Amino acid sequence: MEESVQVGPWAAEAFVDYEKLLKVFGAKPLTDSEVHKLERLAGESHLMLRRRVFYSHRDLDMFLNMYEAGYRCALYTGRGPSGSTHLGHILPWVFTKWLQDRLGLELFFQMTDDEKFLHEERLDLPESNSFAYENSLDLIALEFEPRKTHIIIDTEDIGYLYPVAVKVAKKITYSTQKATFGFTDSTNVGLVFYPVLQIAVSYLPTELYGEETYVLIPAGIDQDPYWRIARDIAQSLGYPKPSQIHNKLLPGLGPEGKMSSSKPETAVYTTDPPEIGAQKVMRAFTGGQPTVELQRKLGGNPDRCSVFKMYEMLFEEDDSKLSERYWNCRTGSLLCGDCKAELASRVQKFLREFQERRDRGRDKLHQYLIRSKFSEPKLKHR
Ligand code: TRP
Repeated sequence: MEESVQVGPWAAEAFVDYEKLLKVFGAKPLTDSEVHKLERLAGESHLMLRRRVFYSHRDLDMFLNMYEAGYRCALYTGRGPSGSTHLGHILPWVFTKWLQDRLGLELFFQMTDDEKFLHEERLDLPESNSFAYENSLDLIALEFEPRKTHIIIDTEDIGYLYPVAVKVAKKITYSTQKATFGFTDSTNVGLVFYPVLQIAVSYLPTELYGEETYVLIPAGIDQDPYWRIARDIAQSLGYPKPSQIHNKLLPGLGPEGKMSSSKPETAVYTTDPPEIGAQKVMRAFTGGQPTVELQRKLGGNPDRCSVFKMYEMLFEEDDSKLSERYWNCRTGSLLCGDCKAELASRVQKFLREFQERRDRGRDKLHQYLIRSKFSEPKLKHR
């Protein structure tokens, strides 16, 4: 990395300059032809592709070719369970669910209770572990298919990961770890080892299915350092290189920055009472003018508006309605109060329905756990 930017697995700021990020990380922008190919294989379009909410990738073209050629494929993503889930977290999961349905793929979902325990001073292990289960309910509420969704909770399912992890660990030097993740002499050694486990999951499907499996990882670009190593060492371990597709982060409802638990008033949690979620939207910072008169005269700026972004990235399916909203804002005929009120009612309805499914999810949780479906991999002599 020539330039220093505040991104990386433990230092993700709100990235606005996605172009620059692509350069820094060396990922490729998603082209029309890749989007069309994915849509063709999926049999329909998705707003997050059309609007480039998912905007860059690595080796997606290779993954799609392998999928089309009939090779075994799978999806992999994860979550560091350090607290409650908000809309920014579920954004990539909504797309992942679509991929699962449309491409008929199994999903491996890693809950890194170990990572969050090791990283966050304030969290003890029972807490991060219980967030792993709480956050799993959000996957159920999104209606991931239980037979095809395999949740790995690191501290409990380590037997699935460890045989692959030792092989991974042997390929990675301490100097690579320092250079890739910025570890120093005072970093605890748990954190130094942790990346091995996140990388190992990208090879796990090949072990569990007993055949070469191509893996696609939908995730924020901040996770890229892991996959850079995963791609580098894959072939020497006899696994296909995992591919990635990266999403932009949902902005928080404040004046700047991604939706983040460090600013809870600007984040809508899946567990917020629906009317609280609506209230947060009503208090959101917008791209509007300070007064109604000025708004009518000058129009607002939807490009810098957290409310418009919520419509664009999650809540408005219909392209023509979205563009109507955009121009009505620009020309001053739509006022922020009205635009927010409409979003607030959509958010409220979403939360109400989501929470009904989430509450019912507790009884189904065991069906999603990897340990209820697979036995631990026995390494064959490769
Ligand atoms: N490290 C990720 C986080 O802090 C969690 C994670 C584990 C993950 N495996 C993943 C995220 C795969 C995306 C894809 O949130």
